[in-house]
Formats: sequence, C-alpha cells, structure tokens
Amino acid sequence: MEEKILVTGPTGNVGTHVVRQLLAAGVPVRTVAHSRNSIEALRKAGTEVFEADFGEPGSMHAVFDGISRVFLLTPLVPHMVRMGATLVEEAKKAGVKHIVRLSGMGADAAPGITLGRWHREVEREIEDSGIAYTFLRPNSFMQTYAVFFGESIKNRDAFYLPAGDGKVSLVDTRDVAGVAVEALTKKGHEGKAYTLTGPEALSNTRVSEILSEVTGRAIRYVDVSDESARHRMKNAQIPDWLIDVLMELYQLHREGATSAVLPTVEQVTGKPPIDFRQFALDHVEAFK
Ligand SMILES: NC(=O)c1ccc[n+]([C@@H]2O[C@H](COP(=O)([O-])OP(=O)(O)OC[C@H]3O[C@@H](n4cnc5c(N)ncnc54)[C@H](OP(=O)(O)O)[C@@H]3O)[C@@H](O)[C@H]2O)c1
Repeated sequence: MEEKILVTGPTGNVGTHVVRQLLAAGVPVRTVAHSRNSIEALRKAGTEVFEADFGEPGSMHAVFDGISRVFLLTPLVPHMVRMGATLVEEAKKAGVKHIVRLSGMGADAAPGITLGRWHREVEREIEDSGIAYTFLRPNSFMQTYAVFFGESIKNRDAFYLPAGDGKVSLVDTRDVAGVAVEALTKKGHEGKAYTLTGPEALSNTRVSEILSEVTGRAIRYVDVSDESARHRMKNAQIPDWLIDVLMELYQLHREGATSAVLPTVEQVTGKPPIDFRQFALDHVEAFK
C-alpha cells in the first residue's frame, strides 16, 4: 500500500484542500487534529487522525512515526518560529524525507516584514535539518475575504482596510493546495521555493466591484486610516502583536509591493490559477 502523507493544519484554509485533493488522487492521508471537534469529520473524510498540539512537542512523537512526506504549516501565533523549529526537530528524529512547507510571499525579502522574517527563520531550520524541502510562498489568500471580512460584508455591505488602492495578486488556497499536492506526490520539487500568486493583481476597489456583481448588492471598500484600522482590530479583540503584524502587511499592500503576477501555479499544476470572480462565485454564501 502507498505510504501515508501527513497533513498538518488539515481544517484550515489550505490544509482542508490538501487533504481533499490527496484523497481524491487516492493517496492515503494522516492528519493532525488540533481541536477535538474536528476529529470525527477528519475520520469521516477518510484520513487516519492523530490528536496533537504543536505547543506540546511530546504529543508529536507518534504523529510523525512511519511518515516520510509532510505538508507542514504553523498557525499564525507569536511563537511560530519556536513551534516550527520543534516540529522540524521532531520530523528529523522520525526520519521524515521531504517537507512541503507553507511559508509566505516575501519570506526571502530583506529586511522584509515581521511575518516574512518568521517564515524565513522556519525555512532556515528546515534547510539546516538536511531534510529535502519545497517551500510554498503564497501571496495573501482570496479566502481571507470570506473568512475574515465575510461578516462585515454580510451585515454592512462593506469591508474596511488601510490598504489604499494598492493592488495585490491574491491567490486561491485551492491553488496553493494544488501546488502542495504536486510537490508531495511527484518528483522534481525538492530544493525549490515557489512564490504563488493568482492570475491578476486587484485593488480592493476592484474586489468590491466583483463582490457587488456576484452578490447583486453594492459592496463598498472603505479605505481607512492606520489609526482607524488599529482601533477596529482592537475592538474586534485582535491581540496587539497581531495588529502590528497585519499593519505591516497592509502597508505592503498599499505600496503595491505584493502585486507581482507569477506563472508558478500553472507551471507546477498545469492548470491556470482561479480568478477572484470564480472564488467569489464559489463562496457566495459567505457574503449573503
Ligand atoms: N492568510 C493568508 O492570506 C496567508 C498568506 C500566506 C501565508 N499564510 C500562512 O499560512 C499559515 C496558515 O495557514 P491556513 O490559513 O491554512 O491556516 P488556518 O486556516 O489558520 O488554520 C490553522 C490550522 O492549524 C491548526 N492548528 C492551530 N493551532 C494548532 C496547534 N497548536 N497545534 C496543531 N494544529 C494547530 C488548526 O486546527 P484547529 O482548527 O483544530 O485549531 C487549523 O487546522 C500561516 O503560517 C500563515 O502565515 C497565510
């Protein structure tokens, strides 16, 4: 029987689709369940489920046992680097042969932003471990508009960001997963770092126009000041460290520093990347 591939973060924006696409290709999957309430769904989906918490390294021993290929993500937490280093150490002890790591666009930029530097530090841990790797460095996810701004769009027909009219080449997480699955199941992706973007760079004004067309309602993008953005996030109980991290990212968006459109998704998967209109049509319930 074919070896199982380990998928971390299997209930998240990217991991959900990595699991789906691997299972659809007939590849056996082991998942790491974090919340107890996800265990049953992951089992029903047909994966072998191990319960663990990256914050408790001891719980990871069994998870890597017998595994040679891993889709590895770390959640957005302030101790991401320490968490990543521990996971790499555990993977090495268990004899893992290939890590496909979910990183972020601009991880290799200098000086870059805090989040990029954290991702680069975890990448370095992987490089130093001697385990073969593929780094996925996606731009911001289209799914953010459903997951984080969906409620605001539903309730107020508006979303609020300090991003000016900067353009961003947003990528759909189904395409990020598609690249991950290629790297996990085919040869030739070892030692590569793939920056992943969608097919076009869009300003938030354009995003609001597409969302308006798809929902049949007038959806507004409100370009807010940094101060107002911080205030809104604080009111939404977002911790200070995360507000700082996000403000750096929005500044890059505003400056157009994340607008490059690259052919990588299609080069790796053989399929053109999903555009924002298609994303919005497929997620329209999140905006209604
Ligand atoms: N959002 C973006 O636009 C974007 C763009 C580029 C890169 N990234 C990077 O992508 C990564 C996040 O990926 P994502 O958006 O797919 O994830 P996500 O939707 O935030 O989901 C996180 C996943 O990790 C699991 N998890 C959380 N804490 C855990 C813990 N302590 N131990 C074990 N598992 C845990 C969660 O399980 P439960 O649900 O059970 O807690 C969930 O499956 C981050 O490193 C981020 O920097 C994000």
